[in-house]
Amino acid sequence: MSSFPSRSSHLKAFGIGMVLALLGVGAYFQFWSSPDLPTVTVYKSPSCNCCGEWVTHMKEQGFPVEVESRFDVKPVKKQVGLPSSLAACHTAVVDNYVVEGHVPAQDVKQLLRETPDVRGLSVPGMPVGSPGMERGDRVEPYEVVTFTPAGDTTVFAQYGR
Ligand code: CU
Ligand code: CU
Repeated sequence: MSSFPSRSSHLKAFGIGMVLALLGVGAYFQFWSSPDLPTVTVYKSPSCNCCGEWVTHMKEQGFPVEVESRFDVKPVKKQVGLPSSLAACHTAVVDNYVVEGHVPAQDVKQLLRETPDVRGLSVPGMPVGSPGMERGDRVEPYEVVTFTPAGDTTVFAQYGR
C-alpha cells in the first residue's frame, strides 16, 4: 500500500466535488423557481414592455414562466374565454386558469391554493402601480376580479385604497 493518495481517491474527490457543484446549481434554480409552482405561459406582444415587466415580477415571485410571442393577443383572449370587458395587455395561462393583465403574483398563488370554480383572474386595463406598471410610488386604486365563462365577476383583491 502506498501512502500517496491513489488515482482512485483523486477520482472520488473529483466526484464529490461534482456532486457538490450540482447541488449548488440545483439550489440556485430552486431559488428562482419554486418546484411547487406551476409554469405560467404568457401570451404577449414582443413589443410590450409592461408585459415583460410582469414576466419579471412573476419570475421573482418564484413562478417558472414561458413566453409565447403573439403580434395580436386578441385571438388568444377569445380562445380562452376572456370577457372582452376584462381585457388588458397580456394573457397568461397557469394550470387551468386564465390570468389576464397585471395580476399580482400573490393573488395567482392564492388562486392556485384555493382553486375556486372560476375561469381565472383579471386586472382589466393597465392600472398604474400594479406589478409591471410601476410609475414611481403612484398607485391607481385597482381590483383583481375573478370571472366565469358566463362573464360573472367577483372582487378577489383590492389595491391602492
Ligand atoms: Cu401591460
Ligand atoms: Cu402585459
